[in-house]
Amino acid sequence: MKIQPVKGTRDFYPEDMAKRNFIADCWKQVSLRNGFAEYDGPIFEYLKMYQLKSGDEIASQLFAFEDRGGRDLAIRPEITPTLARMVNQRINTLPKPIKWFSTPRLCRAERPQKGRLREFFQWNIDIIGVDDCLADAEIIFCAVDCLQQIGLTSKDVVVRISSRRLLAALLEYFGIKKQGIEKVYTVLDKKSKIPQETFEKMLEEVISDPAKRQKILDLMAVESLEQLEDFAGADENSKAAIEELKQLFGYLEVMGITEFCRFDIGIVRGLAYYTGIVFEVYDISEQLRAIGGGGRYDNLLADFGGPKISATGFGMGDCVLGIVLEEKGLFEKLSQQSVIDYFVAYTDQSLQNKSLELVSKLRKSGIKSDFSYKGGALGKQLKQASMVNSAKCIILGDEFTQKKQLVIKDMASGQQETVEIEDFFGRLG
Ligand code: HAM
Repeated sequence: MKIQPVKGTRDFYPEDMAKRNFIADCWKQVSLRNGFAEYDGPIFEYLKMYQLKSGDEIASQLFAFEDRGGRDLAIRPEITPTLARMVNQRINTLPKPIKWFSTPRLCRAERPQKGRLREFFQWNIDIIGVDDCLADAEIIFCAVDCLQQIGLTSKDVVVRISSRRLLAALLEYFGIKKQGIEKVYTVLDKKSKIPQETFEKMLEEVISDPAKRQKILDLMAVESLEQLEDFAGADENSKAAIEELKQLFGYLEVMGITEFCRFDIGIVRGLAYYTGIVFEVYDISEQLRAIGGGGRYDNLLADFGGPKISATGFGMGDCVLGIVLEEKGLFEKLSQQSVIDYFVAYTDQSLQNKSLELVSKLRKSGIKSDFSYKGGALGKQLKQASMVNSAKCIILGDEFTQKKQLVIKDMASGQQETVEIEDFFGRLG
């Protein structure tokens, strides 16, 4: 019986690994150049950590288990609670602001679908200790920097931005009680994923007053920050939240990324802990789930027993991004990249040890090289060189035996040159 991989998981064969590394390398490079330092935490934590503040949706998707000591644990579905826990642990000694990144493997028991699996990788960037929305702007800049580096433009992806602070202020201004607001967020977050009729029904379940419901429906139709001002009227909290969004868009303009960014009142985010500016990245076709999402979560560290300290951040998974990159052909160049610099072939079995010596020398100099275990016909060895994607092939033959010369064949053009062995190593430096 052949055993299948578990539903919602992936096997990474070398060609898949090349794609995964292409994405992971980009995440790491972009994080480092934007001033973030890497961290990681354990793959499982106490179950209650995810039941506390992440919200019902994620709590219902946990891979939870009891360990042999009877502790209730869960595999991490996200790393933000771990980050909050780790920062709280060293809050007095860590220099602020804290700018950290991580690329954890996460598990969520979601229904597997296009772009959503049960095990995935997620890039996280977070800034802790900055109140100003300049930190939110920097997070958005860093996300866009990554999308651009990976080969996407504003014709491919869009960052949709809103504010929970604004929504909370407006909903309160409309007369919705503070305790009921969380429930409204959950419904609003579903809006773009369900038919309008279902959305209205769900809204009815949490808001019984038709006049209030209509206000929310009208609000959801707003397309610009200017239109919002009519809704805010004289409400100071709503006006302050609009001002903050304007300031954010001002920063994004200075940073030169407005072409990627749009205001979208429909962005609420699924996780419960967000408190301020929120945003999600989508591919332009809007056929796929979000590529990434994040926002401000100013209460999470305090909720985890730490001080009141502001925080903002973002997470981007590898699944939807991978689909977009595949669709746009941005993985194609990976298959053309050479895995091996030099494949050393030999025309006579008596030269096997010489080829082994040469390969060892090349490897010690940091050059990716390989050879055939079996030797045999040169044609077969050259075929093997192509199979391992070698850029060049060194052939040890009569030239080597008689004159200590190497024949170097360029595998792409087929051109050959003959080089003295000393000159060859001299050229390698
Ligand atoms: P999230 O919206 O739950 O946020 O996830 C962020 C991204 O992770 C999603 O947009 C998607 O790319 C990816 N993702 C989530 N679930 C899955 C899944 N089942 N399969 C594949 N990809 C998935 C968070 O996790 C927040 N902790 C992000 C954050 C960091 N906020 C502040 N700092």
